[in-house]
Amino acid sequence: MSDLGFKLPEVLVDIDDGVIDLGWGHPSPDLHPLGKMQHASEKLFELKSSVPLQYGAAQGYGPFLENLAIFLSRQSSYTNNVSPLNLFLTAGASQGIDLACTLFAKAGDVVFVEEPTYFVIEKILQDHHLNISGISIDSNGIIISDLREKLESGLRPKFIYTIPTFQNPTGISLSTERRKQLLSLAEEYDFYIFADEVYQLLSFDIEPPSSLLNFDNSNRVIEFGSFSKILAPGLRTGWIQASQEIISRFTDAALTFSGGGFNHYTSVLINNFIELGYLDENIDCLKQIYSERAERVSNSLLKNFNDDISFTHPQGGFYFWLQFPEAFDAEKFLPLAEEHGVSFRPGNAFSASAFFNNYLRLTYTLYDSNSLADGVTRLAKAYKEYSS
Ligand SMILES: Cc1ncc(COP(=O)(O)O)c(C=O)c1O
Repeated sequence: MSDLGFKLPEVLVDIDDGVIDLGWGHPSPDLHPLGKMQHASEKLFELKSSVPLQYGAAQGYGPFLENLAIFLSRQSSYTNNVSPLNLFLTAGASQGIDLACTLFAKAGDVVFVEEPTYFVIEKILQDHHLNISGISIDSNGIIISDLREKLESGLRPKFIYTIPTFQNPTGISLSTERRKQLLSLAEEYDFYIFADEVYQLLSFDIEPPSSLLNFDNSNRVIEFGSFSKILAPGLRTGWIQASQEIISRFTDAALTFSGGGFNHYTSVLINNFIELGYLDENIDCLKQIYSERAERVSNSLLKNFNDDISFTHPQGGFYFWLQFPEAFDAEKFLPLAEEHGVSFRPGNAFSASAFFNNYLRLTYTLYDSNSLADGVTRLAKAYKEYSS
């Protein structure tokens, strides 16, 4: 406690003791690769170079972009032979999306989002005074007929924001066929596609569908990647992949020019991490642990809830999206669940239109398998009390 008589928080979320909070998509502390990060830092100081402390190149630290391009080219679902000229360093996907809104839209413009979608994105879009319109999704992602209907009704979006792979909150992925259809509508109606791909590299047993960039013949796709989910969110570093024409818009932005490349020092550190071979190792480790945890949650849900809920077993990413019977109200259920020592995020948090009363989202990243199973048992006990 400081002399001020209060203690300011150290991290974004403080979870009450005794509560298993399945609402936050944050990694467990034991998954942060502290030792490897120390080696990467030692390498940074061994070089005795002051470059990491200088204003960084506007597009990003060159060696970082080159190594990132090589790393991405190795990923089967990515574009083949990613060129560093198509990459731009960001301070995370959120910052990249915020800057993209500044550069590619203006207050009052219409933009489309999936319904449901990542709950903070709507706030970023609102900060830019954009008019948000939701597009329905099903188990194959954006329902193209719904999108077409909205376009034919006269709505003209500046862009559509989509999470194509292992979507937050539903875990579903946009099918290859629909990726192509989305691109052809973007060409026909002249809008950009903001593809938030922060989960794409965390696939368990399947090959994720090919990146939207692979179908982009008219420079409409702006893809956002992040180290938050594959390395550590505290690094606040990510990247954008797009055509050179689009990358130059980001490089020439006033914000980039005034402050230099974002998180330049951290990108030097991450570059060392990649060169030491640690990024591949870290992703392999996360995929294995998350897939084991997802399996445990799935089994606990099946054991404790019988046929009362339905869900799809995640094939990657962070989330379970549970559907309860029609009359269920996740927001009313939340305080009771918390009395039972478990928390989650109600479905309506992911949509402005309140269609998802009877849904809730669980994550499996913050706790080990036993605590996750314990959390699901508590949830089921609370649900039994709620339903009786
Ligand atoms: C879909 C999606 N995009 C972006 C983010 C945040 O990414 P970053 O930490 O890179 O800003 C999250 C984090 O939960 C997310 O789920």
